[in-house]
Amino acid sequence: MNLTVTLGRLHLKNPILVASGTFGYARELAGVVDFARLGGVIPKTVTQQPRAGNPPPRTVETTAGMLNAIGLDNDGIDHFVAHHLPYLRPLPTAVIANIAGKTEDEFVRMAEQIGREAGLAGLELNLSCPNVSGGVDFAVNPEVTRRVVQRVRDVCPLPLVAKLTPNVTDITVIAQAAADGGADAVSLVNTLVGLAVDWKRRKPILGNVTGGLSGPAIKPVALRMVWQTARKVKVPVIGIGGIATLDDVMEFLVAGASAVQLGTVNFYDPTASVRIVDGLPAALSQLGADNVKDVVGTLTV
Ligand SMILES: Cc1cc2nc3c(=O)[nH]c(=O)nc-3n(C[C@H](O)[C@H](O)[C@H](O)COP(=O)(O)O)c2cc1C
Repeated sequence: MNLTVTLGRLHLKNPILVASGTFGYARELAGVVDFARLGGVIPKTVTQQPRAGNPPPRTVETTAGMLNAIGLDNDGIDHFVAHHLPYLRPLPTAVIANIAGKTEDEFVRMAEQIGREAGLAGLELNLSCPNVSGGVDFAVNPEVTRRVVQRVRDVCPLPLVAKLTPNVTDITVIAQAAADGGADAVSLVNTLVGLAVDWKRRKPILGNVTGGLSGPAIKPVALRMVWQTARKVKVPVIGIGGIATLDDVMEFLVAGASAVQLGTVNFYDPTASVRIVDGLPAALSQLGADNVKDVVGTLTV
């Protein structure tokens, strides 16, 4: 059984990745997850300057799904390079750094810096964080998306993944723009903007007022967007959104994802990713396939 997948210039040993912001900088999970089994690890988004993030409360569990407004709390790119990269670099799996710029120029500067570092398999551009006050949600605008990806590609030799927001009218237009800019793959989706209310206090529950909804509640929306995008756009799609089981992964692959990222599940079942890798060969065999590629996008309607 061949589990390897190729996404543009990005080569992974299997299609199971862990999503940015839900797996720390990997070392937090070292005693729990055998990194060598994963297709890849995407550490928390880093920004140019350190960020304190949003005021608390930053997370709230809703009836169906988790709402978060962390606000890209991180120590900045210099700290990432000096402190986290030496740990991440020798890990026996693909490490894909994830950056977010406040401006296009910041994206370009950070990508240039990250691109000089050895030991990374790729770079994911978080064009889609909904919680950054004062920031611009780059991936709501196709022209901005194309330009950021292209400018990053011009200065950074790493394979590029453009991470897109579901908070748009037609995500396929944005995905096409990322492809036009030279993205090796697009990853979708980031969280869906939501609101939790404490009616007795007549106040929002989150310090940031709104937050991003994630977890199994968003899976059908993410699946629909992956399916639409994979049918329309040539660039490989990495599916994200509520994936927690082997069945979820198979649904995303059949719908058109060439790989997947597991997010919120890491908070309540951090070994799910490894168990899914274990079960993947048997699930592929059930469809008569001996490799991942043969099932991708085979949904018939
Ligand atoms: C607490 C939390 C923090 C997150 N932080 C980031 C982040 O720093 N960068 C990023 O690109 N996505 C971040 N995300 C989004 C996830 O990577 C993922 O796209 C989203 O949660 C949907 O997948 P899921 O339903 O499997 O969680 C975060 C999600 C959660 C729940």
